[in-house]
Amino acid sequence: MKKHLAIALGISMMAAAFVPAAYASGSSMASGSSMANEQSIKQADVHGPIKNYYKTFGGMAGIKALTNTFVDNVAADPHINYYFAHANIPQLKYQLAQQFCVVLGGPCKYTGQTMTQAHKGLQITTAAFNYLAADMMAAMKTHNIPMAAQNYFIAQLAAMEPQIVTK
Ligand code: HEM
Repeated sequence: MKKHLAIALGISMMAAAFVPAAYASGSSMASGSSMANEQSIKQADVHGPIKNYYKTFGGMAGIKALTNTFVDNVAADPHINYYFAHANIPQLKYQLAQQFCVVLGGPCKYTGQTMTQAHKGLQITTAAFNYLAADMMAAMKTHNIPMAAQNYFIAQLAAMEPQIVTK
């Protein structure tokens, strides 16, 4: 599934092969008091081992900037923006930034809904999921996130697909 997504996004075979490797490695798991607590990680639906890319993404300021660009990309994407017609955008941005921070090994607390709860009844398709992932790839490119960090982050998001895609 992760490989499939990577290919759908047009990532090279080498990068696609890298994606599962990001999962296999637990050696660089973030540790110490700076990481989000266990409940927060569970609620954020993080599946693979967390690596610490918090600083690589520019800390909280960088994560917020990335989230803004990502949501702007989604809002401008005619393939999927209709899903967000009734969304509370400031609230969504806040929850996304907190969740992304947790995924990136940062010292955050995600207090939003689980991915199953948040997307229940929205009838999200695999195609819609892939468009959203592409919007995130474009946002990471805009913010010059290094490729290994991009691959880690997109693999973490790809692992949430079973909770989000219901159609
Ligand atoms: C890995 C991919 C995704 C992640 C990490 C994600 C994350 C989130 C988060 C954190 C929330 C807020 C939960 C809360 O407020 O408690 C949310 C809500 C939502 N998501 Fe996603 N999501 C993803 C994919 C998608 C896709 C593919 C769609 C549709 C194409 C989508 C549509 C929505 C909508 C409509 C809401 C509700 C917004 C509102 O009512 O204010 N999401 N998502």
